[in-house]
Amino acid sequence: MKYSLVAAVVAAFASSVSAADAVKGAAEGFAKGVTGGGNAAPVYPSTTAELISYLGDSSARVIVLTKTFDFTGTEGKVTSAGCSPWGTGSGCQIAINQNGWCDREQPKAPKVSSITYDKAGILGMTVGSNKSLIGQGSKGVIKGKGIRIVSNAKNIIVQNVRFTDINPEYVWGGDAITVDGGDLIWIDHVTTDLIARQHIVLGNGASNRVTISNCEINGATGWSATCDGHHYWGLYLTGSNDLVTLKDNYIHHTSGRSPKVAGNTLVHAVNNYFYANSGHAFEVNPGGKVVAEGNVFQNVVQAMQPNLGGQMFASAAAGTNAQCKQYLGHDCEMNAYGTSGTLTGAAAGILSSFSGKNVASASAASSVKNVVNTAGYGKI
Ligand SMILES: *[C@@H]1O[C@H](CO)[C@@H](O)[C@H](O)[C@H]1NC(C)=O
Repeated sequence: MKYSLVAAVVAAFASSVSAADAVKGAAEGFAKGVTGGGNAAPVYPSTTAELISYLGDSSARVIVLTKTFDFTGTEGKVTSAGCSPWGTGSGCQIAINQNGWCDREQPKAPKVSSITYDKAGILGMTVGSNKSLIGQGSKGVIKGKGIRIVSNAKNIIVQNVRFTDINPEYVWGGDAITVDGGDLIWIDHVTTDLIARQHIVLGNGASNRVTISNCEINGATGWSATCDGHHYWGLYLTGSNDLVTLKDNYIHHTSGRSPKVAGNTLVHAVNNYFYANSGHAFEVNPGGKVVAEGNVFQNVVQAMQPNLGGQMFASAAAGTNAQCKQYLGHDCEMNAYGTSGTLTGAAAGILSSFSGKNVASASAASSVKNVVNTAGYGKI
């Protein structure tokens, strides 16, 4: 009797704790070398409070999600005024009048007297240094709240997790992943969908070395700032001399900021699959520097907004692609377009910024269609 009880407990333990509960693979590109929680024994939060505590404390941790953590309702609801700058139809996002934003920025927009949203979505969970946040199989889901990597937190891995349902009806209702002051951050095989504002935002603080790989940025929504089922606020990569590798991501059903690049940020966008974008993918503002190679744009109205003042090297011709080798270690790969606008720009002067950095490899664009099957959570 005693033996069988112990055996049962061991069996139950073994089913939830396994050697598989570890980060898989390694970061490529600028965040190469990131270790997150390293070899720390995995911890398995059971409540939202425990998850907040593990993420925010000062211990190196491997935090394994084995279920959906639903934050909706955990901090209550907020009722406030809002506005409709993008239209009053049922498919349009409404903006929360956060800190008087509607009054200040959109004084002519129709007012919305009373909206109610979930408070937990507004501010993400703080993530400390030396953390791995990983999902088990396809069980790692965080609903109604994002994460914030701030205050110069370093060495963080987020892998195989889905962030979903963060006040998607309301702009200013929350972001999924914020980095604003950090270094060595790897966001891999993460899915984001139904988010209020940015799916991923690298704020004005220096985020230093970041790799975003194998992620699914799913902009399909019933509440859009472009009122067309496509989310406008995709990826916003600003900062202070940030280095961002964007590789093998599936970015779809967005209508803008996919990504927006500013603030002296250098982006290596390689082998991403951009699909079904009703507006624009790249928005590169003054200071932004983008080398885009081996990407596929399928049904993307504008692969980039023209003439915004940022710098783009968009692989377009064999002769220019050879210029990459000296600094990136390989000839750049051509981008490919299907029923899409194209990237333009041959700012070869930005290639030298890759000198001495860890640079992701590149495959031919013809192999990139498979990203649809490999990107996102629950795939590794
Ligand atoms: C993170 O880990 C490194 C290496 O072990 C250590 O030097 C550093 O103090 C840790 N950071 C924090 C905030 O614990």
